[in-house]
Amino acid sequence: MSMKRTFKLAPSVLAADPLNLLKEIQTVEDAGVDWHHIDVMDGHFVPNLTMGPPLVAALRAKTKLVLDVHLMVTNPDEVFSQYVSAGADMLSFHVEAAKHPHRIIQGIHELGCKAGIALNPGTPLEFVYPLLPYLDMVLLMSVNPGFGGQKFIPETIDRIKQLVAHLEIKSEKDRVLIQVDGGIVLDNLQQVLEAGANVIVAGTAIYGAVDRKNSVGKFRGL
Ligand code: DX5
Ligand code: ZN
Repeated sequence: MSMKRTFKLAPSVLAADPLNLLKEIQTVEDAGVDWHHIDVMDGHFVPNLTMGPPLVAALRAKTKLVLDVHLMVTNPDEVFSQYVSAGADMLSFHVEAAKHPHRIIQGIHELGCKAGIALNPGTPLEFVYPLLPYLDMVLLMSVNPGFGGQKFIPETIDRIKQLVAHLEIKSEKDRVLIQVDGGIVLDNLQQVLEAGANVIVAGTAIYGAVDRKNSVGKFRGL
């Protein structure tokens, strides 16, 4: 019996061909994805350097899908508003980098955007607990941030389950989304979903395939 999979699929633009970005995002839109995940790396919080507000704005002008921006920068307090102005619908920043995470969340909301907090694989879940009433999403990293195509860290499954249990105790399970990001492939997808994730980021597994209808369809369980 095939199980119907209900989750948001957010392919990471990082894995697309940067010289053909518009065509690339259209191939996954045609294949029926839900969000575009945009990895912003500053060369300081993580060793890699990727995209900034102008690229988010350029994508905004060309798509109606949710732009899910993942800030991997050392100074989210200072730069978050630029990404909202550029057109982000969901903006996540790392708790390890934020000076005043609660204030950033407030600022994101005031600008009319949804707010998420990202946690590195080694960061205690408790860091985010006081902020849950204010958050729209928790982003659990399942690799160390910085690069696409890395191997999924298996302990993430327990972290998802612990977060779900805590959200249930707080009666927030139906409101706060759980996004998992890094190394998700068909072989571990079911485990990640069963643990309780409801937003799945996948870069290599979607854009790495020539036939995106096929790779997206497989993720959907078709
Ligand atoms: C890693 C990024 C991820 C990454 C996902 O720092 O946050 O979004 O691009 O790519 P894959 O699915 O290839 O691990
Ligand atoms: Zn990401």
